[in-house]
This record gives sequence, C-alpha cells and structure tokens, in this order.
Amino acid sequence: MNLTMSALTHIPVLLQETIEALAVQPGGRYIDCTLGGGGHAAAILERSSPGGQLLGIDADPEAIKTARARLEAYSSSTLTINENFVNLQAICFKYDFFPVHGILFDLGLSSLQLNDSSRGFSFQHDAPLDMRLSPSQEVTAADIINTSSETELAHLIKTYGEEGYSHQIARHIVKQRPIKTSLQLARTLEQAIGRRRGRIHPATRTFQALRIAVNQELEHLEAALKQAINLLGFEGRLVVISYHSLEDRIVKQFMHQESRGCICPPDIPTCVCRHTACLRLITKKVITPSPAEVELNPRSRSAKLRVAERIITQDDYHNTAERLCFSVVVNGGGWRRPALLKRLRRTFSAL
Ligand SMILES: C[S@@+](CC[C@H](N)C(=O)[O-])C[C@H]1O[C@@H](n2cnc3c(N)ncnc32)[C@H](O)[C@@H]1O
Repeated sequence: MNLTMSALTHIPVLLQETIEALAVQPGGRYIDCTLGGGGHAAAILERSSPGGQLLGIDADPEAIKTARARLEAYSSSTLTINENFVNLQAICFKYDFFPVHGILFDLGLSSLQLNDSSRGFSFQHDAPLDMRLSPSQEVTAADIINTSSETELAHLIKTYGEEGYSHQIARHIVKQRPIKTSLQLARTLEQAIGRRRGRIHPATRTFQALRIAVNQELEHLEAALKQAINLLGFEGRLVVISYHSLEDRIVKQFMHQESRGCICPPDIPTCVCRHTACLRLITKKVITPSPAEVELNPRSRSAKLRVAERIITQDDYHNTAERLCFSVVVNGGGWRRPALLKRLRRTFSAL
C-alpha cells in the first residue's frame, strides 16, 4: 500500500467535534500527541492557518512517515517527532514548543496499524505476536504470552481486558505454549471460551489486554496527562478521545480531580492537601459520535471525547504576584502606574 492510499484508510474520529473542542484559531499552536495518519492534524493546520503551528508526536515510525506525507503542504508549520508521548514535556522543552493553545490525544491504534498484516495487533491476520508501537521497545506480546506464569496471565487479561474468563484463558494458553502468531492465539482463545459470545469475538478482550501491557498504555496516558497541563497556556484546551473504559476512566478521573480545589477526604475538618484546580470542564458529559458517523466509520462506535480548559491557579496568581512585588522592590518602587499595568497584563496573558 503506498503512503497516500494508506493515509486515506484511516478516517479521523469525531473530527468536527475535536476541532470545536480545541477551539482552533488562526495563528494558534497545537500539539497532536497521537499523529497517526495525520487526519486530525491536517484539520487543525487548516483551521489554524494563517500562522498556525503543530507539533505532532507518534511512537510508531510508520505513522510518522504516513503523517509527514499527508501534511506535506504544511511542512513549514509542522514538526513531526517519532517519540512516545510519555516524554511529552521533555519533547516540548527540547523544541521550545510551549505554551500551547491546545493538546490532543486520540488514543489507541489507527486503522493503518490494525490493518497492517505484519504487526500482530489484529486476530483477522496471521502475523508474529508483536504488538509493539515502536520497534525500539523490548517486550513483545509473544514474550508476555510465552514467559508469564498462569497467574500473571490471568491477572493481566482480567485487569487490562476486563475479561470474565481470564483463568480459563490463561490455563489454555499455558497448555498450548509456545504460541507465536496472532491466529494461533485466536484459535487458543476460541478453544478456551467458545467461538462467539454475543457481538464480540472471543479474542477481543485478550488482544486488548496484551496490547495495553506491551505498550504500557495506561501508565503512559496518566503520566502524559499530568505533563500536558504544564504546557497549556491560559485557556488552552486539553482534548482526549478514548476507545475503552480503562482509558476513559483515567481521563475522566484526571479531569474531574484537576478541576476541583481541595481533594481531602470529606471527614477531614481542614484542608491538608492544598490542591488547587487548574482545569475547568468544558462539557460535563462525554461527547460521542452520531449514529451517522458510526454507520460511516464503525471503528468510531466506542469513542468518547472529553475536554477541559486550563485556568489560572491560586499558585499561578501567587507566583505572579510575588514576581511583581519583587520587581517593584528591586526597582526601588520606581514603577509608574501605566508601566506596572502593562507589565501585569503581559504577565497574565503569558500564563
Ligand atoms: C487512533 S490513532 C490516531 C489517528 C489520528 N488522530 C488521525 O486522525 O489520523 C492513535 C495513534 O497514536 C499512537 N500512539 C498510541 N500511544 C502512543 C504513545 N504512548 N506515544 C505516542 N504515540 C502513541 C499510535 O501509534 C497511533 O498512530
């Protein structure tokens, strides 16, 4: 498949909703932490022109190649980095790309990865059980399947796949080892729990669990969300699209917690956490695709979009006030009122 063709096979999910949630504006700076086929990125660049800038990150070198080809027309305003978003802050510091107007995470895999018959992500194609987003990662799905104990496998499949038959599955896997390919694993799972259960294939949950474990998806998401806050300018938007309940729970809890002040347990009489809100929820309810979008792009059916906005925290006020007082003191109080106001305005607009 050539690059342009392959880019066309990933349809960006909740595209219009994402652009609105990011409040994309001409001249804005944005980070797409999950560049994939570059679909969302292209729309952000189009809407932010003239003058818009985009930093696009993807752990998968193949995705970076595809996205670069797709975004060629915007190459002077785009920086594409083949990295894991767990290093988001370091990447932005290295390329001096902050503060930004918006940060997008469109989690999981692209259709390009799922349809790639050599990576082992899908139980529809026979391929070595790899499942790494990047070839630089050490552990593959085959390593986990063939070296973990039965108890470890059952725990992993239950925790990351929310699979009710995890013990039965782990027992079958251990009996059938070594398991080297995706179809061999899919057949083992069918033998363990039967061919079909309702609408989902018996391999779905175990494949999800393995992919999450191989790529440490949940740990990386938690770490990156925390870093994202520090990169957002005042009123910058954080937008996350997730595709399963484990991811969505992390995003929801994170946004709710960071939009609250004190998070002490209710039975503590005075606050000891000193936590301050740094986000404001833009939509209390999650945004999901319309029936028309799901019909056009069935992959979108489980998508959930959440959005929050950076606000000035009490700490930000404190630091700013301290900086200003310090300036006034070291300048011997020599500030004239208009100059002080101008400085105040500049400082607050930079937050
Ligand atoms: C759903 S796709 C994004 C599709 C993209 N929004 C588009 O419109 O084409 C998710 C992408 O995120 C990448 N990805 C997932 N986890 C990542 C991580 N921790 N660091 C960097 N990229 C990651 C995957 O490689 C994949 O290309």
